[in-house]
Amino acid sequence: MRIGAHILRNRLFVAPMAGITDRPFRRLARRFGAAIAISEMLSARPELRASRKSRLRRDHAGESGPISVQIAGGDPAMLADAARYNVDQGAQIIDINMGCPAKKVCNQWAGSALMKDEPLALAIVEAVVAECAPHDVPVTLKMRTGWCASEKNAVRIARAAEAAGVAMVAVHGRTREQGYKGDAEYETIAAVKRAVAIPVVANGDIDSPAKARAVFAATGADAIMIGRAAQGRPWLFGEIAFHLATGETAPPPRVADVKAWLLEHLDDHYRLYGEFAGVRSARKHIGWTLRGLPGGEEFRAEMNAIESCDAQARAVAVWFDRLADAMPLMPACAAHERPAPTLH
Ligand SMILES: Cc1cc2nc3c(=O)[nH]c(=O)nc-3n(C[C@H](O)[C@H](O)[C@H](O)COP(=O)(O)O)c2cc1C
Repeated sequence: MRIGAHILRNRLFVAPMAGITDRPFRRLARRFGAAIAISEMLSARPELRASRKSRLRRDHAGESGPISVQIAGGDPAMLADAARYNVDQGAQIIDINMGCPAKKVCNQWAGSALMKDEPLALAIVEAVVAECAPHDVPVTLKMRTGWCASEKNAVRIARAAEAAGVAMVAVHGRTREQGYKGDAEYETIAAVKRAVAIPVVANGDIDSPAKARAVFAATGADAIMIGRAAQGRPWLFGEIAFHLATGETAPPPRVADVKAWLLEHLDDHYRLYGEFAGVRSARKHIGWTLRGLPGGEEFRAEMNAIESCDAQARAVAVWFDRLADAMPLMPACAAHERPAPTLH
C-alpha cells in the first residue's frame, strides 16, 4: 500500500491518540510492526505552537518515516497554514482530524463536527491539499461514519475528499453521536472502500488477530488502524502481522521481554517529558501493561505513589523479574480486557 510516494511496509496503522501516541509510543508501535504511526493531533491555532504540549507533540526526533502529523481545526486558511508549518518542521504526510468527538475540539467546529458541515469540510481539505501539493506531501483524512445514525455521510465525504486530492481516508466505524459507545460497524467502511479508489483504512474495536482478519474481510479495506487495544500491548501489531501471514497464533511474549520493552519505553518517555511529567505520564503505560497480570492491580497502586523516574523504573524491573520467575510467558489478552475509552 502507498500514500503518495510513501510505500508502506505492511497494512497496520497505530491510531492517533492524544496523550498516548507520543514519540516513544509511536516508536514502540513501529518496532512491533505498525507501518505508520500518525502523531497526536496538533491544534491548527498558531498561538498554541510554542506551548510545551505542542512542542512535545511535534517531536519526531529519531523516528523512522513516513512522519505523519495530524492537524485539527475548523478554519480552512488556518489549517492550510498549520499544514505548511508542520511540513516545514518535517511532516511527510498531513492528516486532517475529522474524527475526534472531544467537546473542546468539536465546540470549535473541528474534529468530527466538520462532518456536519460538508462544504466547510471540503473547503478545509482543498485548502490543505493546495498547500501541501507543491511540496509533494500527501494529505490524508481521518473521520467517523457520520455525525449520527441518520446522517452517515462518510461515503459522500470520502468521494469529495478523493476528488479534492486526498491520498487516503481512515474511517472509525462509529458516528460522532456514539462517541465510544456501542460497537464499531464495518458496513459503512466497506461502502467507503467501494466508493473510492484511494486507500481506505478501517478503524474501531480491532483488538485481536482474529478481529483484524475479520475486519479486513468485512470491509475490503487496504489497511487497519488500531488504537486502544495497543495500549500496554504494542506487540499486538506483531501478533496480527504473524496471524495474517501464517493463519497461526503467535506465541505470547516472554515476561522478561515485556520487562525489557517496557523499560526501554520508560527511558524514552522520561527523556521526552523530563522527571516531573515523565514519572506521572508513564503511570498509565505501566498500568496498561499490568492489566490482567497476577498482582498487577496491587503493584499499580504502589507504583502510582512513586515520585521519581529512577525509582519507578527500578520498581517495574523488580516486579517483572518476580513475575518472570513465577510465570515465564505473558497470558493471552482476552478481547474483553480492552481498555475503557479515556477521552481527551
Ligand atoms: C485517548 C484517545 C485519544 C484519541 N485521540 C485522537 C486524536 O488525537 N486524533 C484522532 O483522529 N483520533 C483520536 N482518537 C480516536 C482513535 O484514533 C480511534 O479512532 C478510536 O480510538 C477507535 O479505534 P480503537 O477502537 O482501535 O481504539 C483517540 C482515542 C482515544 C481513546
